[in-house]
Amino acid sequence: MTHATPDAAPSPADQAAREPRPARRPIAADATPEQLISRHAADILASPGMRVEATCIQHGDTSVLAHSAAVSAWCVVIARTLRVPVDERALVRGSLLHDYFLYDWHVDDPSHRLHGFTHPGVACANAERDFGLTPTERSMVRHHMFPLTPTPPTCREGAILCLADKIVATRETLHGFSLRLHKARARRARSN
Ligand SMILES: [Fe+2]
Ligand SMILES: [Fe+2]
Repeated sequence: MTHATPDAAPSPADQAAREPRPARRPIAADATPEQLISRHAADILASPGMRVEATCIQHGDTSVLAHSAAVSAWCVVIARTLRVPVDERALVRGSLLHDYFLYDWHVDDPSHRLHGFTHPGVACANAERDFGLTPTERSMVRHHMFPLTPTPPTCREGAILCLADKIVATRETLHGFSLRLHKARARRARSN
């Protein structure tokens, strides 16, 4: 039988689970999306995991860190535009951590083959380990790939994240295509 050590420091997951669930409110009107990200997620932005994200490409030439920050900013914009009361802190933190899988999925490796389906679970486990997740944040990360993964978001913050992620991913992918097209044209012009 195991006994909990009374003076052991609580893990990030324990701390997050003990936090009371805050009431949902309209997004603060006095701050930009970037200011809200700094307010609620300074610890995440300064973490070693975000330095890993900065070195991994998500779409086109966009890093996972830049993608995640853009998705977080879009979540704020969407919630504010729709005037939906949300758990502001969870919206910012869950969206910033939604792709916290910490590897470059473009690297040819058998474990990356099902990346689209498996990375929400990996991101969830990593984020839980490094920061702890509230139930809302956990649900956001786990279901952000819907409809590619079958379970839809179970909270409004998750639905907003799903929408923001698709908007940002589409913009980044199109930007990547036009970048490649531009480079191919420049190469052709040089060889003529
Ligand atoms: Fe994702
Ligand atoms: Fe994403």
